[in-house]
Amino acid sequence: METKSLFINGKGETKQRTYALHSPYSGEVIANISMADKADVKKAIEGAQQAYKTMKEMPAYKRSDILLKVVSILQERREELARVVALEAGKPIRTARGEIDRTIATYQFAAEEAKRIYGETIPMDAAPGGENRLGFTWREPLGVVVAISPFNFPFNLVAHKLGPAFAAGNTVVLKPAEQTPLSAYLIAEIFQQAGLPDGALQVITGSGRELSDALITDERVKKVTFTGSAGVGKIIKEKAGLRKVTLELGSNSGLIVEPDVPLEKIIPRCVEGAFAFAGQVCISLQRIYVHESVYEEFSKLFIEQAKQLKIGDPLEETTDISAMINPKEMERIESWVEEALEQGATIGLGGTRDGSVFTPTVLLNVTNNMAVSCQETFAPVVSIVPYKELDEAIDMVNDSIYGLNVAIYTQNIINAMNAAKKLESGGVIINDIPTFRLDHMPYGGVKDSGYGREGIKYAVEEMTELKFVTIKTAF
Ligand code: SIN
Repeated sequence: METKSLFINGKGETKQRTYALHSPYSGEVIANISMADKADVKKAIEGAQQAYKTMKEMPAYKRSDILLKVVSILQERREELARVVALEAGKPIRTARGEIDRTIATYQFAAEEAKRIYGETIPMDAAPGGENRLGFTWREPLGVVVAISPFNFPFNLVAHKLGPAFAAGNTVVLKPAEQTPLSAYLIAEIFQQAGLPDGALQVITGSGRELSDALITDERVKKVTFTGSAGVGKIIKEKAGLRKVTLELGSNSGLIVEPDVPLEKIIPRCVEGAFAFAGQVCISLQRIYVHESVYEEFSKLFIEQAKQLKIGDPLEETTDISAMINPKEMERIESWVEEALEQGATIGLGGTRDGSVFTPTVLLNVTNNMAVSCQETFAPVVSIVPYKELDEAIDMVNDSIYGLNVAIYTQNIINAMNAAKKLESGGVIINDIPTFRLDHMPYGGVKDSGYGREGIKYAVEEMTELKFVTIKTAF
């Protein structure tokens, strides 16, 4: 079987040390992946620093053109790329196509943002001593950015790092998740084809703390952008010292369902939010708080609809739910569900495994202190909990170490806006699920859900430095 190479300075580098990449669904080996060592990291950073000399001088319209070329290549290769995501991440093919479509939109936004990196003028004469002075700002790229990306959106969450980085004129050393290197190699090839200078995008694959440490602690790196768990995010922030960081971390997203909404209309959306990509999404719907007057009906309809989901091979057109990313994650969620049952929760649906798939699981009688509620499940497991008063539901949603996206369904504008004010999170979605995201929205969390914002315009701000210039216009 072919060994996949690292991508450094525009060339593939095959290593002696490799690991076997397994399909999450079938367990078969699908590729051998080169494992980088510390010397490769040094070389990649050195090359990215050299390429930065070209990138920082490249005019905005050229950076925008490269991103637009990427868009058109992605459009041409949509089906091939979706199949790679289905194969290496176990994402059902229809969902994988949706991810490629979002990736196209993300790079399109990045191409547009490259031309909108504005500064402002400062009214210098607002203070004594400012007479006869002009003051203004512009934004400059940072230099070498290290991007560490997760397995769950191997194209689109990489796009949320590469798009703004290149729009702003930076270079990137990308370390994709161990489970999804094939998508990263493909995007590097596509950027090269689109005309990105060699060295501006380096791909380092492998595993282990040593590799990440070598990337994060190198003084030549000016920023680290990471999507993944809160535990790793905290370590990165500590190790990055004074360097800039953006951290997109986890959550246990909550939704409030008030009694004034048509249940039959919102149930399909709620089922989608809980089980899309087997719940392995940071804003997956994990906790549903339903007003007690409609709790029984909501639970019944939700379970009926979830029963319709088709389990199977991610490459089959009809599959809704496929494998968990690896057996370890499967064991973790099994033990959390078992523990919840011991603590008094009951099963509304599922709770079992079917080969490599954890079946769609609905838990009832869940309390906020159970791991399935207070931790991020990152699995197809959702709890439905009744409440009496809206404030009680808001308190339960807020009773979490996380705060990324939360949501409320209600037709009462006053309740909606009061909830939006009181809910502690980076985003509040009214009349849709917390899983709702468009790629130009500001996206990021409070509490353990993260630090900084993505969404191209906001990420460009985080990937540039503000420079202030003043001119004295009279001597
Ligand atoms: C995430 O899982 O962090 C991103 C979710 C999304 O982009 O839809």
